[in-house]
Amino acid sequence: MKIGITYNLKDELSPDAIIDTESCEEFDSPLTIDAICGVFEKNGHEIVKLGCGIKIIERLRGEKVDFVFNIAEGCRGRNRESHTPSILEMLDIPYSGSDPLTLGLTLDKVVTKKIAFQAGIPTPRYLVIKTSEDLLFLENKLVYPLITKPAWEGSSKGIYNSSKVFNRQELEKSAELLFKKYPDQPLLAEEYVEGREITAGVIGNEPPRVLGLMEIVNRAGPEEDIFYSLDTKRDWKKLVDYASPPDIEQLIQKHISHYALMAFKEFGCKDVARIDFKISKNNKIFMLEVNPLPGLSPEYADLVIMARKNGIKYDDLILSIFNHALLRYRSGKGDLSYETV
Ligand SMILES: Nc1ncnc2c1ncn2[C@@H]1O[C@H](COP(=O)(O)OP(=O)(O)O)[C@@H](O)[C@H]1O
Ligand SMILES: [Mg+2]
Repeated sequence: MKIGITYNLKDELSPDAIIDTESCEEFDSPLTIDAICGVFEKNGHEIVKLGCGIKIIERLRGEKVDFVFNIAEGCRGRNRESHTPSILEMLDIPYSGSDPLTLGLTLDKVVTKKIAFQAGIPTPRYLVIKTSEDLLFLENKLVYPLITKPAWEGSSKGIYNSSKVFNRQELEKSAELLFKKYPDQPLLAEEYVEGREITAGVIGNEPPRVLGLMEIVNRAGPEEDIFYSLDTKRDWKKLVDYASPPDIEQLIQKHISHYALMAFKEFGCKDVARIDFKISKNNKIFMLEVNPLPGLSPEYADLVIMARKNGIKYDDLILSIFNHALLRYRSGKGDLSYETV
């Protein structure tokens, strides 16, 4: 097949557009793109590197690809992840992964929490903060420690060690920083769940299945809590261990898998997703967020590490995502969504 690949590269932004390195945090490195292209080429496919943005429209018209492997994060706003798949839908080109609606819903953490709540998937209590005045109404509604985060970022953007706050003063400071750094969006003040962290990989459709659960372990301690902040992620080699399967009670693993599959279906994810959870000290499970566009770096992506620890090679992971997407289109259910009751 002739397969296009859509992506955003870390070094593709013009120097003017790069406010700081954090603004490119969710983008991919050329190494990841080459790794994915290599998998397809080894399997006899022709690859066209399409990149991202408006220019892909002309390129897609010229190249006539059969399918697009989409990992583009998009550049601006809370619908950025939906931009590329929307173009592909307009041009009637089949592509891998979730559709624009799912990508839009899940990038917005407030909308995600509302849907999760409605579906009966537990998620930490929170309030939306739009101005510093909103902080006045927060007291007595939530219990410290809290965590502040921008409403529609990913890859721990805007989530620093100082985002875990223990009192009003720290909260105000952290909120001010986010208002400055992300002026276009509200922030969430969410109850911080002290405890272990698990990320769940889900793959396939009809039915999707749990590829694995992986604990993000705090190598530096304390063992019973980890804060996977931007600071921690950037220093992951030193600070983090990954355990998959996790050394956690079977019943808890079963419940997390159940919620992961519930979330995958509830949000209409397709082909692949990674869903993040925390387990409180009294063993309550909380879903933090849904990632229908999980990182695929062969070196440091959580999903790839999880797959490897479960005996799934990089090539097989990529081909599996691709094959699930193909099957979906071939079954004539390219637009499948919703569980039937
Ligand atoms: N309510 C919370 N309680 C405890 N830790 C949290 C909470 N929310 C986020 N975190 C920590 O911050 C990390 C990043 O937050 P997350 O909501 O997953 O955003 P992102 O989209 O940036 O990955 C999580 O992996 C977790 O370690
Ligand atoms: Mg996360």
